[in-house]
Amino acid sequence: MKKLFDKTKINQMELKNRFVRSATWEGLANPDGSCNQELAELMLELAKGQVGLIITSHAYINQTGQVGIRQLGIYSDQLISSYIKIVEKVHSEGSKIIMQIAHAGGRASAQLIKSQPFGPSSLEIKDCMMCREMAKNEIFQTIGDFKNAAVRAKKAGFDGVQIHAAHGYLLSEFLSPFFNERKDEYGGSIENRTRLILEILQAIRSELGKQFAILVKINSDDFIEGGFTQSEMVQVSAMLESAGIDAVELSGGTSLKISNCSSSRVGEIDSKEEEVYYRDAAKLYKEKISVPLILVGGIRSYRVAKELIEKDLADYISLCRPLIREPNLIKRWQEGDIKRATCISCNECFVPTRAGKGIYCVMENQR
Ligand SMILES: Cc1cc2nc3c(=O)[nH]c(=O)nc-3n(C[C@H](O)[C@H](O)[C@H](O)COP(=O)(O)O)c2cc1C
Repeated sequence: MKKLFDKTKINQMELKNRFVRSATWEGLANPDGSCNQELAELMLELAKGQVGLIITSHAYINQTGQVGIRQLGIYSDQLISSYIKIVEKVHSEGSKIIMQIAHAGGRASAQLIKSQPFGPSSLEIKDCMMCREMAKNEIFQTIGDFKNAAVRAKKAGFDGVQIHAAHGYLLSEFLSPFFNERKDEYGGSIENRTRLILEILQAIRSELGKQFAILVKINSDDFIEGGFTQSEMVQVSAMLESAGIDAVELSGGTSLKISNCSSSRVGEIDSKEEEVYYRDAAKLYKEKISVPLILVGGIRSYRVAKELIEKDLADYISLCRPLIREPNLIKRWQEGDIKRATCISCNECFVPTRAGKGIYCVMENQR
């Protein structure tokens, strides 16, 4: 039977347990997107806290893809050296670290990128987003930029990359019929909507070889009327499996106001039954797909995490907000103090991050 503290492998990446720190925008990068000592210390703390695999926050692959202030960037070779320290620190504690490579698409910040954001199709939603349709040459450029970002991540020593295709950002917009109304080979059928991600995966593979870990994060559902659905998630996962993806992280929702759920739902999770936002999606995935499943969203207690692994509903347990509040949570659980995570899922951690002050749990001293 699978166990939480099994040693496992994703591709060649050897992991000391089944716990993952889900990508988390910390708002701590330098203004040019490079990494610094503060971020390195944060990663070290997570590694000391026994997180087996750390996924960095979303790093923009080119300058049209930025969404947040003090967001990590990986758009230029000059940034590579800034990452070497953080990788070394994490490795020194026996954990692994991969970079989440991303483009915010129609959700990019016009103010930060100093131009109009683009997505698969032009779209205007009042007080929410306004973007223009991408030209074909911009699609080809994006594939090259994702590939170059992965090459840079490898040069910096990262153990792999995670392609961010969730949460209503560029690649998730391509997958979603709500955002993607293209009439060419990148729109229409689910095969066409998945094409861009598959081409990115293929480009990275052919450049970096079979042994480099390439993961992806996708939505199980957009929770938008006319958006991406669970059954499409299974189809996309099957295509990714055939194309040689190494693991899939399942998430859901977007940060758009029209989405019924954001990926980080607000609201305290009081009981075991309220945990695991994407339990049904995980079940569907596991019935059809054999690529390792990293499950994120609303997992808060040791017992639930253990059950997910032992019942084979997931292969890895991914946590975001609980590790902002308690970076040592996994160590605490491993040492036998298995009381649930003390995070109350209030999302107040976004407040200092958006204000440029960097992430922390604002409830720190209140519980
Ligand atoms: C402050 C904050 C920043 C986040 N940044 C990212 C990110 O950079 N990339 C990403 O894929 N998800 C990001 N997420 C979403 C989380 O990775 C995760 O999917 C979500 O919070 C649900 O997990 P949880 O219930 O364990 O918090 C972020 C969430 C929070 C709260």
